[in-house]
Amino acid sequence: MKTVLITGCSSGFGLDIAKLFLDRGWNVIATMRTPREDLLPISENLRILPLDVRSDESVARAIEAAGPIDVLVNNAGIGWLNALEGTPVDVIRDIFETNTIGTMRMVQAVLPQFRERRAGLIVNVTSTVTMKPLPLLSVYTASKAAVNAFTESLALELEPFGIDVKIVLPGAAPATSFGKTAISRMEGHGGFPEAYAGYANEVFGEMRQRTEVTLPMDVAQAVWRAVTDPSSPKRLPAGADAVALANSQA
Ligand SMILES: NC(=O)c1ccc[n+]([C@@H]2O[C@H](COP(=O)([O-])OP(=O)(O)OC[C@H]3O[C@@H](n4cnc5c(N)ncnc54)[C@H](OP(=O)(O)O)[C@@H]3O)[C@@H](O)[C@H]2O)c1
Repeated sequence: MKTVLITGCSSGFGLDIAKLFLDRGWNVIATMRTPREDLLPISENLRILPLDVRSDESVARAIEAAGPIDVLVNNAGIGWLNALEGTPVDVIRDIFETNTIGTMRMVQAVLPQFRERRAGLIVNVTSTVTMKPLPLLSVYTASKAAVNAFTESLALELEPFGIDVKIVLPGAAPATSFGKTAISRMEGHGGFPEAYAGYANEVFGEMRQRTEVTLPMDVAQAVWRAVTDPSSPKRLPAGADAVALANSQA
């Protein structure tokens, strides 16, 4: 039986990824900043471990407690929606610390065991905003585009060791807490600068008119495909909007 370790399982995509792998008979190590036993079905194949991707100690402890794993899914991430002028540099650092450096920290932590076994797979969850730019998301997009570039180079240096690295790109998923958390983070830092307020309203209006969206289960299924179908592409769009965008760019 194979083992997958997933980051950010307390909500949204991470929770559904964990549920899908459990349903399909995998050993699942669902990691959360604040572990909760009541979110996932009780199963002897499930372990819940504390893990904060921003902390070297937390990551090292979780990887040690996890024991051998076959697949790492880097799903944990935070959003930020504001003009660059409304984004303090400390916030930029924060977004990169979680989304970009957190992913790199996790990969560093699993590589020794993957390299020794000459096997292992890493799936990094980024976003379709890296395929088609949207306004007020420059910092978030940069943090995820950096993960795409990181993944593509890393995949080359890990190929000789039998380790594979893939990217799953979800579209917009209003059903998760991601957007709400991003907006309250932005409001906690003073909101939109006055000069951008009207424009930000227009952008929100356009966002509300979206007809196609991504569901958490779409992301879980894309991760499942990335992990279990060796012929799946290195970059997998996830969700109706993401697939439509990828097709329009093919
Ligand atoms: N929703 C969208 O529209 C969308 C679209 C494209 C890509 N994505 C990406 O998909 C991933 C999952 O997003 P989601 O929509 O499922 O959002 P979500 O419901 O807000 O889930 C994010 C998860 O990441 C965790 N997390 C945040 N900071 C962390 C840290 N320092 N260490 C460990 N875990 C941390 C959160 O845990 P806590 O509960 O402890 O905060 C939560 O479990 C993110 O990488 C996001 O950037 C989202």
